[in-house]
Amino acid sequence: MSELHSIAARMVAKGKGILAADESTGTCTKRFENIGVECTSESRCDYRSALFTSPGLESYISGVILYDETFRQKIVGTNHLIPEYLQSKDILPGIKVDTGAHPLKEGSEEKNTTGLDGLSERLGEYYALGARFAKWRAVITLGDGIPSDECILANAEGLAKYALLCQQANLVPIVEPEVLMDGTHTIESSFEVTDKTLNTVFEQLEQHHVDLKGIVLKPNMVLSGYDCDNQASIEEVAQQTLECLTKNVPSEVPGIAFLSGGQSNDLAISHLNEMNKKDTDWNVTFSYGRALQQDALKIWAGNLENTNATQGALLSRAKANSLATKGNF
Ligand code: 13P
Repeated sequence: MSELHSIAARMVAKGKGILAADESTGTCTKRFENIGVECTSESRCDYRSALFTSPGLESYISGVILYDETFRQKIVGTNHLIPEYLQSKDILPGIKVDTGAHPLKEGSEEKNTTGLDGLSERLGEYYALGARFAKWRAVITLGDGIPSDECILANAEGLAKYALLCQQANLVPIVEPEVLMDGTHTIESSFEVTDKTLNTVFEQLEQHHVDLKGIVLKPNMVLSGYDCDNQASIEEVAQQTLECLTKNVPSEVPGIAFLSGGQSNDLAISHLNEMNKKDTDWNVTFSYGRALQQDALKIWAGNLENTNATQGALLSRAKANSLATKGNF
């Protein structure tokens, strides 16, 4: 098996999922503000060191997505660079390589993700520093008259170009087309837009000759908009999400690792669990940021003395999601 195929298979191995800890400095600042902690390079390193040194994390977590700054930091109080430390625990280090979502056109509500300039060089550097996979997030907003075909195509094209460059650099690309679930839309609208988005993404991946056995897909679940009056049941979300994926995702893709996207921590577990009660062509797991970290972040509150409790909270969410990847929660 090629290196790419075996890394992709490890990322989505049964019982394991991915911890997304690649919040940009801007996002991290907002999250720290909510808990009254100043967001500095040092405090970010303290928090993330606490997460990554959770004892036994490797039982549930196959890989961690890091931000550029974290990739170059050391676990607090040690001489171990964070990617090397993760590798020593048998956890694959990954790196966010897009440079954010920006207005598709001037004044437009729709976004397109940037980051292709100089990407090859950056990927080579990250590989040398220990990265084995990368992530690029494309954002599709659902609203009045949007998304446009132009927005979906531009984002899908960006994902495909990024994915090919990753594979050329021996990194497994996490392909993340996120249809946002903010708003009043119904689950039917969510299905329709996710269906169109995934269809365009796989068309572009094929046109760019991306090896589908060497990617991990990170999609949204098909949910009712968070402000929709009629919230779909857990069973309906699982059924609609699997139907949408089955329509669009070729069986060569080894795994699907969902983003949590602002669902509650408990629903993120329940939805994943429900989907894993069914047989699927691909392993179905998690690549959660908020749904793994929210409890831990609140408990940490910028205080080193809370490290054990912080780690306990992360491990408890990671274990529950691990059980959910087997439908055993
Ligand atoms: P959430 O699970 O918080 O949506 O974050 C996952 C992620 O990596 C977004 O790009």
